[in-house]
Amino acid sequence: KVPNMMTNLIGAINKMQDIFNTLKVTNSIKLPQIVMLGSQSCGKSSVLESIVHRPFLPRGSGIVTRCPLVLQLIEHKGNDAGYDDEVATEWGEFLHLPKRKFTDFDEIRKEIERRTDELAGRNKGICHEPINLKIYSPYVVDLTLVDLPGITKVPVGDQPQDIEAQIKKLIMLYIKNTNSIILSVSAANSDLATSESIKYAKLVDPNGLRTLSVLTKLDLMDKGTDANEILSGKDIHIKLGIIGTVNRSQQDINDNKTINQQIEDEKEFFEKNYNDAAHQNGISYLSKRLSQLLMNHIQDSLPDLKIEVDEKLNQHIKNYELCGQEIKDKNIFIMMIVTEIMKKMSELIDGLNLNMLKDAKNLVGG
Ligand code: GDP
Ligand code: MG
Ligand code: NA
Repeated sequence: KVPNMMTNLIGAINKMQDIFNTLKVTNSIKLPQIVMLGSQSCGKSSVLESIVHRPFLPRGSGIVTRCPLVLQLIEHKGNDAGYDDEVATEWGEFLHLPKRKFTDFDEIRKEIERRTDELAGRNKGICHEPINLKIYSPYVVDLTLVDLPGITKVPVGDQPQDIEAQIKKLIMLYIKNTNSIILSVSAANSDLATSESIKYAKLVDPNGLRTLSVLTKLDLMDKGTDANEILSGKDIHIKLGIIGTVNRSQQDINDNKTINQQIEDEKEFFEKNYNDAAHQNGISYLSKRLSQLLMNHIQDSLPDLKIEVDEKLNQHIKNYELCGQEIKDKNIFIMMIVTEIMKKMSELIDGLNLNMLKDAKNLVGG
């Protein structure tokens, strides 16, 4: 019962995310979500790919992620009854290409690249409009993450001179949403005290209440140093914790090392070097922790979300009534649609609360 209800929570928020993105009103309501934050090359893409167990993201030097990527992971055991032409257990679907099923993860990468060029242009600019990708797989837990362009300091190549400011603006838009959990990624082979992602997180979450830190590249720390102190979380106040990971190096990628092999090796790495903390580090632990955090967080956000949606709904109804049927432009049409959607969302949230109540009663046997 409970896992079902929890899955419904993330599924419902995913639906809202899809609707907002379709209407291109991404930030009009503060949806609960996990936002990934980190400097270029700190290992964000590697973490995401390890969470998915498949390489599927564009790679390269410079700014590769140039639009937000809303990645909705859906745990899916067995085959999908909806597609009888093919027996697939893992696949991706893009919101902008409905009904097309990507079973080849190289094709997913190509489509992200193509869509990025389409949205942000080919000349290394960035854009605010997100790409929405759902991945169905038996290897994932239900989890939605937003990947953002990496924090960058110096423009390279034909990047615009104000690229740092542009990216900062986009990042701030996402992390200042008080309903977002900040997944702050830093590399262990550089000083955590100067980590850009932690600096950004502190700007909007000074007490670290909604920040979780991921420490990558633990294998690259100087000989004789380790991250025990940092991973224990004693010297930095990040309330949701600090989780270490080891992902594939560039050499591993060149050698075609699989992610599944890497996950095995990571486990061994932690058992060998951080035995006491092995169960609270690594990609598998990170996935589960994030999924749990997101569910709890959605639950906590529901009452406020309901208020916000209802406020928006009333606004739209009022505007709609004010305009009446006199103004015959497309804004009225859009307003009608938005009003309908807000109604649906309001009902959706009520339904969620109701289910939770039922599940709670079942739990206590009532
Ligand atoms: P992003 O720019 O933050 O998305 O960083 P990437 O995930 O693309 O990683 C940048 C480079 O660091 C790539 O060559 C990765 O192979 C490498 N890398 C990422 N994580 C690790 C790690 O834990 N250990 C090692 N040795 N290399 C890593
Ligand atoms: Mg990347
Ligand atoms: Na960083």
